[in-house]
Amino acid sequence: MDSNTVMYGVIGDPIGHSKSPLMQNRAFRETGVNGTYAAFRVKPERLGEAVAGMRALGFRGLNVTIPHKVDVMAYLDAIDEGAMAIGAVNTIVNENGRLVGYNTDGIGYVRSLKEEAEPELAGKKIVVLGAGGAARGILWALNRERPASLLVANRTWDKAKALADHLGEGSGSIAKAIRWEELREACLEADVVVNTTSVGMAPNVSETPVDPAWLKPGAVASDLIYNPLTTAFLQQAQERGCRIHGGLGMFVYQGAYAFEYWTGQPAPAAAMREEVLASFTGK
Ligand code: ATR
Repeated sequence: MDSNTVMYGVIGDPIGHSKSPLMQNRAFRETGVNGTYAAFRVKPERLGEAVAGMRALGFRGLNVTIPHKVDVMAYLDAIDEGAMAIGAVNTIVNENGRLVGYNTDGIGYVRSLKEEAEPELAGKKIVVLGAGGAARGILWALNRERPASLLVANRTWDKAKALADHLGEGSGSIAKAIRWEELREACLEADVVVNTTSVGMAPNVSETPVDPAWLKPGAVASDLIYNPLTTAFLQQAQERGCRIHGGLGMFVYQGAYAFEYWTGQPAPAAAMREEVLASFTGK
């Protein structure tokens, strides 16, 4: 670091477990960008002050994580169209004092899915499990790939219905809500089944959101969870002959897009992934 080092960070609460500093600092080292990235624990009542601090100190970029992704929007000067449709911001770019909010979660997920599991999503039948915060960005980004169908199912029907309706009105999405009871049939036909629920996350590692036997061999089973790296859902789907896609890629590529928005340079995604993986496996 020197007096020209450009500052970046992530704000959230809690933030102590974030892998973003390790990953982004590796990206700066790898590309020779004179930047540094730190984690800041920001209480909800001080969110406005934190954003003002970013302006005052001339930070070029911030990532925003739980619980601030929605509330931070009120403090920004502009919101990208995608982030507006999703209703949440995870990346802020400081354009000479003008703070612009983006959402790289959904597009990060889709880039990872295409690079790691299924390069062509157009014309595919896609089922999304869960209708929480993570599902919003993913549905928005998947819709842009022109799938044949995009079905969303949630344990609580009202949330799936509200989400599909919201995206349909706002961004012309084809996403359609189905009942949890209709999932078996939908999964039997699907080319891609994505779990955005927390079912199967450590410590409940033996649980699966749906019966993996419902998936057809050759289909893609995708899980946003990255702890464990391979969930029981993915493990069992793979045993059935499915292609599997874990959640680490989404994390890496949401960060890769943020890096690219901030620096204008291609992100060193392989090195970023290696850094996060090493922090998990202790290598
Ligand atoms: P995130 O922001 O990570 O998506 P969230 O907004 O809390 O987290 O959403 C969690 C999702 O997991 C929801 O879709 C939730 O379903 P409900 O809306 O019915 O609560 C889903 N989920 C959590 N536990 C579940 C379970 N045991 N079975 C099915 N779905 C579950």
